[in-house]
Amino acid sequence: MTDFAAKRMGNLIVNHDYSSEQKYDSLVNALVTSSCSTPLQRKQLENLLKECGFGQQPNTDVSADLAMLTWMNACYADLLAHAGDVLLGKVEANSLVNHRLVGPTSRMVGESTFYAPVFDELSKGFPIRYFVDIGAGVGNVTLRVLQGHPNARALAIDKNGDSLKRAMAEAVEYDIASRLSTKTMDAALLSEQPELITGADTVCTLFCCHDLLAKTGREKFVSWLAAIYGALRPKGRMIVAEAVHADAKSHWFSKVFTLIHRLQKIVLPREDEWVTMFEEAGFMVNMRDGVMPGSRVFTLLKPEMAKAPGEKTPTPLAFKRLEEEPQGRTTRQSQPQLPMVAERPLLTILPPQPITVPVLRAVEGHHAPVPFYFDDSLVPGAPVSIAVVDLGAIPPGGPAEPHRHKHTEYYLLPAYPERVEIEVTIDDHTFNLISPALLPIHAGARHCFRVRKAKPGQFIFGVFVNEQGGQSHEIQ
Ligand SMILES: C[S@@+](CC[C@H](N)C(=O)[O-])C[C@H]1O[C@@H](n2cnc3c(N)ncnc32)[C@H](O)[C@@H]1O
Repeated sequence: MTDFAAKRMGNLIVNHDYSSEQKYDSLVNALVTSSCSTPLQRKQLENLLKECGFGQQPNTDVSADLAMLTWMNACYADLLAHAGDVLLGKVEANSLVNHRLVGPTSRMVGESTFYAPVFDELSKGFPIRYFVDIGAGVGNVTLRVLQGHPNARALAIDKNGDSLKRAMAEAVEYDIASRLSTKTMDAALLSEQPELITGADTVCTLFCCHDLLAKTGREKFVSWLAAIYGALRPKGRMIVAEAVHADAKSHWFSKVFTLIHRLQKIVLPREDEWVTMFEEAGFMVNMRDGVMPGSRVFTLLKPEMAKAPGEKTPTPLAFKRLEEEPQGRTTRQSQPQLPMVAERPLLTILPPQPITVPVLRAVEGHHAPVPFYFDDSLVPGAPVSIAVVDLGAIPPGGPAEPHRHKHTEYYLLPAYPERVEIEVTIDDHTFNLISPALLPIHAGARHCFRVRKAKPGQFIFGVFVNEQGGQSHEIQ
């Protein structure tokens, strides 16, 4: 930060009506805490702060306004101070932004404003199994989702690889790294790689869509949303926190947020413009405001019976406003307060839910749909699929014509009190398989079987394994 910017930040804090020592104490505490990437670092810093006399009071009094002020000054003081030159095109807006501090200070704003309603939305409905965070930053949301949903796995996407590294380091400390994947990429490219999202039940994106919209233009942005809509599971949802354009009645922060973006050639849509784009992509939209001044949390629902993108939501009731935004200053009492980062709570841990099985899949060569009891659609990302077929119900000719699979399949015959026999043909070899037995059928081998001896209630397991991960029962 330049001297000018530092002075400006000092002036703003002093001139603003926050003089209580406790607030400054908390502000410094929050600032330095946000510089830590791991709980261990935080612990050490906490001790140091304590030795220096900080943090003797509970950290619940960092006001939303102080966090917003800090965000503005830490990241955008230079941009605001050179607004005239930026407008004349003499200097490039991007070069005046302190990008390094955007993540940590956004987190401060999030902790005091929008995280609480986002977590509230995330805690509704079904337990999360596959969560995708677009513009995940340092993983503030993703890590808490993984902590709160022990059966969930998550993909954190951001264009900033350093932020994702921090997220992963923190996940290691929390012992949840095995359930986290990260991907450094421009999220705009997701419309070309929707498979990254395929099967997700919850997608979350916080204050990233306005960047994407400005970058891609409206038409491509709606197609991007439609690609996510297509990849989400039926009844899946997308939680979007976004800013709307300020007007004369808006809170100061909404005005400043709008101005900072206009200087960067990003025009924030109005509330109704956001809703229209979400609906054009096929979603049903619920919305709540009163979160961060000038922002909304949209919950976009994919109905069980998917609509075609572009098809309008049939009923105006689909758009639901959940709360009114308080005008003017945010009142501290009405602000949902989350504890500071150092005291991150776990979300309520939901009890594991049974999964309804089987899913019936048409498999090439097979005479009837095959019942799968474990696969990628039931357990997102599972590299193993298990089909279980009652041998007593198979017609004399066998369940399928000779066919091949892209991945190795294992025929598993468990031990039954009365033995089971099937005749297996693999390429040119035919032989008898007697229970208990496990027979590998290598990828690409032409195979089939017919039943020689089995009763109803005696099952064969077809176990498909994809060593590279991902879907495992694809046919070649
Ligand atoms: C306001 S931060 C939110 C971070 C995090 N979700 C949170 O709530 O703390 C927005 C994030 O979106 C990321 N982002 C912006 N545009 C992006 C793009 N085109 N592709 C990928 N990430 C992007 C930024 O790097 C940043 O980490």
